[in-house]
Amino acid sequence: MQEKIRPYIEEVEKFNAATREELDGFRIKFLSKKGILAELFSGMKDIQADQRKEYGQMVNELKNKAEEKLSQLQTQIENAQDSRQAHDLDLTLPAEPIYPGSRHPISITKNKIIEIFSRIGFTVADGPEIEDDWHNFTALNFPENHPARDMQDTFFIEQKGPDSIALRTHTSSVQVRVMENNKPPIRVLSPGRVYRNEAISARAHCFFHQVEGLYIDEGVSFADMKQTLLYFAREMFGSGTRIRLRPSYFPFTEPSAEMDVTCSICKGKGCNVCKYSGWLEIMGCGMVDPNVLENCGIDPEKYTGYAFGMGIERIAMLLHNVKDLRLFSENDVRFLKQFAAE
Ligand code: DAH
Repeated sequence: MQEKIRPYIEEVEKFNAATREELDGFRIKFLSKKGILAELFSGMKDIQADQRKEYGQMVNELKNKAEEKLSQLQTQIENAQDSRQAHDLDLTLPAEPIYPGSRHPISITKNKIIEIFSRIGFTVADGPEIEDDWHNFTALNFPENHPARDMQDTFFIEQKGPDSIALRTHTSSVQVRVMENNKPPIRVLSPGRVYRNEAISARAHCFFHQVEGLYIDEGVSFADMKQTLLYFAREMFGSGTRIRLRPSYFPFTEPSAEMDVTCSICKGKGCNVCKYSGWLEIMGCGMVDPNVLENCGIDPEKYTGYAFGMGIERIAMLLHNVKDLRLFSENDVRFLKQFAAE
């Protein structure tokens, strides 16, 4: 028996393999189900009883040596492969680029607006996006049956008449909170997100951003407002910019106006952005209605003030000639990347 097993042991001891394929051949030959060892184990029963012990010991020796060899060569081949890969690494190749993040165009525009107004003494005031009926509508002089109070226009969370709770439809609600909690002089800017029940299109969205401005003091006039807004328009759109105020209506201002700036694309000559009028509408404004002052605990006999509100998306679209409002909320990096330098 020994003469049969000894050569196998020697073969295993001498065996070497450089590739996985060679090693696999070895495994199949000795250790597989139909391999030499399986055959030797099953031959055990034909061995004479007095020789069985010795036979068993030799077969076990062969098995241990074969298994040991297999695992030793496996590690050897893997290590060789790793070091080959390490050699393949070319450290002179350019690295994968890392793209730094950039600010969102809405944040860039908002920060620019805040910066311009902060230079003339405006500070920033915040208010909640979930607002009650009083702050969003009633205190701002909206009549009870005003269309903005309709389900069709506003996202209500609870609709219970004067106790309704809704997503704010404009940042004008922050005016009320500021006036209720502060004494004049008041000079604040309130940027934030607002919500309206609108069908989403290139020109409208169910949420967008506004910046509200409010200035209350003794003797504040329409002329003060006009000069402040002219200063803003020139800082924002360029020093040659002109403005015009068209009469308008808002429940919370009297008189009310809409402000246009000369088109920043064609400089007032007429183009498809300004629909060949040379003018672009950028905000609503007016003198704070005495009813609003009174609702907020400010004496309208002593104080006057102006307010204005503008859409941040609209300003960003005009500044960068963006044609579709939806781009601002789709998070397409190809769009957002273009603002990286700002
Ligand atoms: N709240 C108005 C809107 O959402 C914008 C506005 C107009 C704000 C006139 C004002 C203002 O403060 O005086 O359309």
